[in-house]
Amino acid sequence: MAKTIFITGASTGIGAATARAAARAGWNVGLMARSRDKLEALCAELGEQALALPGDVTSFEEQQRAVRQLTERFGSLEAAFANAGAGIKAPGTEKGDPAEWRRIVELNILGLLYTARVSLPHLRKTAGHLLLTGSAAGRRHIPGSIYGATKWFVHGFAGNVAEEMREWGGRCTLVSPGMVDTPFFDEPKPGKLRAEDIANAVVFALEQPERVMLREVHIMPTH
Ligand SMILES: NC(=O)c1ccc[n+]([C@@H]2O[C@H](COP(=O)([O-])OP(=O)(O)OC[C@H]3O[C@@H](n4cnc5c(N)ncnc54)[C@H](OP(=O)(O)O)[C@@H]3O)[C@@H](O)[C@H]2O)c1
Repeated sequence: MAKTIFITGASTGIGAATARAAARAGWNVGLMARSRDKLEALCAELGEQALALPGDVTSFEEQQRAVRQLTERFGSLEAAFANAGAGIKAPGTEKGDPAEWRRIVELNILGLLYTARVSLPHLRKTAGHLLLTGSAAGRRHIPGSIYGATKWFVHGFAGNVAEEMREWGGRCTLVSPGMVDTPFFDEPKPGKLRAEDIANAVVFALEQPERVMLREVHIMPTH
């Protein structure tokens, strides 16, 4: 029977590309983001194996509802990809915008934790796989970057939750890309990574034999 993955931030960029790649690899895909129209268009493209789950990941209840709908539709959950996230407009700390910090912490940190919290009880039943989108910005220090600091959280949490999941044979993979040409940026980034490059790495991690826990996939553009 086909396996099922829950993907947040699935309306564009890395999440949408991962939905396509996972569906091609035979997975059922549950797609969460706020843009209902984009999710429905993607589901129309992918067919019966995709389910649109419009909602805001900063709401624990909306993520709970999404995963409930997904497991009701497909029966079980074998993977979850906590990928929704965004950058920050006001750069640095001294001139940063505290209201924007709150929004980004709610999205990049709490939204990701909620994905883990709502998925883990299901993943425990299938010895499943949790994947988290970190960043090259979560591996090095960037002057004053609050966005980068939210990704340092993701990197720290990834190790901790991986240890927690090992107790029941679950696996956790941190995906840490450098610059990817997606709507994350207002301007195109030609020559950088493409969303499908990250999607391919996610599917590679998912398809490892049961004995292999790929702890981090770090991908940088060549140029
Ligand atoms: N692009 C890069 O260079 C790069 C590098 C390293 C890491 N990353 C990380 O990769 C992840 C995906 O980013 P991307 O590059 O693919 O950018 P993107 O195309 O802007 O994708 C962001 C996704 O998150 C969703 N989202 C934003 N706020 C949300 C909310 N409150 N609730 C639900 N969904 C929400 C967006 O959909 P809606 O607007 O429809 O809700 C969209 O599907 C992020 O965590 C980002 O930090 C990106």
